[in-house]
Amino acid sequence: MSAASQHRRTFGGKKVLITGGLGFIGSNLARALLRLGAEVTIIDNLFPRHGGNRRNLHGLEKKLEVIIADVRHRRSLPACLAGKDFLFNLAGQTSHMDSMTDPDTDLEINCRAQLSILEACRQHNPGIRVVFASTRQIYGRPDYLPVDEKHPLRPVDVNGINKLAGEEYHLLYSEVHGVRSTVLRLTNTIGPRMRVKDARQTFVGVWIKEVVTGKPFEVWGGAQLRDFTSVDDAVEAFLLAAARPEAVGRVFNLGGVGHVSLRELADLLVAAAGRRHAGYTVRAFPADRKKIDIGDFYADGRLIEQVLGWRPTTTVGEALAQTVAFYRKELPHYL
Ligand SMILES: NC(=O)c1ccc[n+]([C@@H]2O[C@H](COP(=O)([O-])OP(=O)(O)OC[C@H]3O[C@@H](n4cnc5c(N)ncnc54)[C@H](O)[C@@H]3O)[C@@H](O)[C@H]2O)c1
Repeated sequence: MSAASQHRRTFGGKKVLITGGLGFIGSNLARALLRLGAEVTIIDNLFPRHGGNRRNLHGLEKKLEVIIADVRHRRSLPACLAGKDFLFNLAGQTSHMDSMTDPDTDLEINCRAQLSILEACRQHNPGIRVVFASTRQIYGRPDYLPVDEKHPLRPVDVNGINKLAGEEYHLLYSEVHGVRSTVLRLTNTIGPRMRVKDARQTFVGVWIKEVVTGKPFEVWGGAQLRDFTSVDDAVEAFLLAAARPEAVGRVFNLGGVGHVSLRELADLLVAAAGRRHAGYTVRAFPADRKKIDIGDFYADGRLIEQVLGWRPTTTVGEALAQTVAFYRKELPHYL
């Protein structure tokens, strides 16, 4: 049976809640789940500093339920979770810099609210199947490359510490309370609907915006190594993680097809942009960011391949080309 037919069997007619579903990855996941015949509900607070945007679900508004609410408000959670078969838990504060200047907000969303969500699951829907979006940021500066799931966890910023707490809560509730959860540690994810307004989600968003508006973009440093997952590959990993019983209680890295230096990434973006681009300039890495930079990173993705058979298939160049094509049409809705 094809992967799509298997997913249709798993998710068709099922009730699915996506926290952060108006955001970049959550909305792409919502679109995929609607195609598979799931009944999708979204909870999102559309806070302007985060990546939520109603345009992300343009054309599908009547096909799913969108609840504008904040996962920090515990009282709204039981009603949202009631009767749901799956929870894709993606609501998060994603900016590393904001987590250093406004640590309380990061704590409330990425740590405190995660515990509230799991408590609501335990008390009101313990049979729900949960997938949590964690981050490679929790590893901190790698001791070795590629980074596997056994690598020490030494976050270098407040965001990494709170995301680590979030994933630990999920594993604890899975182990002790039977709220079956899987944790995915995402690396840089790129694709249509990523935040391009500023660098709060990733610096690549700003690069894309500059390319599409015909301005030169800035590369800081340039030698750092990174891996990138296309959002379509990431969505497939979320679906597989939710569908497969062998994923329960486990943590998996998501990696990309190979890895590149930021300079190589810039060249790939320039190539993806075709003739209409103004190139890029290279400057030193800013001192305030250097303090929380993790240096080189790329993930070892062998575990998820062994256990779930997931492996990224979209190259960085392809993902960049799709994203540039999307924003050539859609940019005004994302500024
Ligand atoms: N994009 C990446 O490269 C990346 C990398 C590592 C981890 N992640 C994780 O994946 C998840 C999704 O990230 P994304 O890139 O789609 O970001 P995003 O900002 O586009 O999506 C997050 C969504 O959560 C919503 N949200 C935030 N706080 C909320 C709250 N208190 N109540 C309700 N909704 C709230 C936002 O409005 C937004 O729509 C996040 O948890 C993030 O930490 C993403």
